[in-house]
Amino acid sequence: MSTIKITAAAIRGMKNRRRIASLTAYDYPMAKLLDAAGIPLILVGDSLGMVVLGYPDTTRVTLAEIEHHVRAAARAKPQALLAADMPFQSYQSPAQALDTARRLIAAGAEAVKAEGGRAILPQVRAILADGIPFLGHLGMLPQSVLEERGYHVKGKTEAERTSLLADAQALAGAGAFALVLELVTPPVAREITRQIPIPTIGIGAGPDCDGQILVVTDLLGTSPDYIPRHVKKCRHLGEQMRAAVVEWKESVAGPAANP
Ligand code: KIV
Repeated sequence: MSTIKITAAAIRGMKNRRRIASLTAYDYPMAKLLDAAGIPLILVGDSLGMVVLGYPDTTRVTLAEIEHHVRAAARAKPQALLAADMPFQSYQSPAQALDTARRLIAAGAEAVKAEGGRAILPQVRAILADGIPFLGHLGMLPQSVLEERGYHVKGKTEAERTSLLADAQALAGAGAFALVLELVTPPVAREITRQIPIPTIGIGAGPDCDGQILVVTDLLGTSPDYIPRHVKKCRHLGEQMRAAVVEWKESVAGPAANP
């Protein structure tokens, strides 16, 4: 196995050459495991809020919480590129976005991700001008869940299709190294993938993106409350973990008494 460090430029260069399989990690052991499995892009996502911290959505995740988990994942010193999510309301102006991105880089991230297209272009430009690699995120934007009253598939109307395309082109033109497309209709995800020069990484956006990303606990079946429908290869390890705990408990305390 090669030991060359994977950079944002290397991920960018995978377009039309190699499919990108990306996963989230929130701590040291999982970052080590994913790296050993050859995952080239690891994201400390703000899905952290739901799958680790017990929040109802990503809007409660703070910058301090993401920093804490980025530090843990970065201690794995992965060969993979380690990206971190910029949390809700932490990039409302170019100055705030730059400050947030610098804090995540200081915590050990090697790239940052934020949700939105043309609406956050000044912020994206400020981050990139500072030499910090930027990963875009379009489609269903989880940080807008309260505003949009739920998680809705994007790209169903002509207006959404043209807006997504314009946002994708704007992010690619600004210098983002790749673009996450979340819950975008497969034909629109395919069209964006064909039209932009940077890799698209889909989540619930069909098979035709340049790569796929999943929340790792959804893949492994350990997400506490809910596994989204687009996760087709869930391994249900949560069930095996529960059985192991029950087995051990019974070895210590005896079988559960009948009520
Ligand atoms: O927070 C997250 O986990 C994400 C997904 C795209 C994987 O942003």
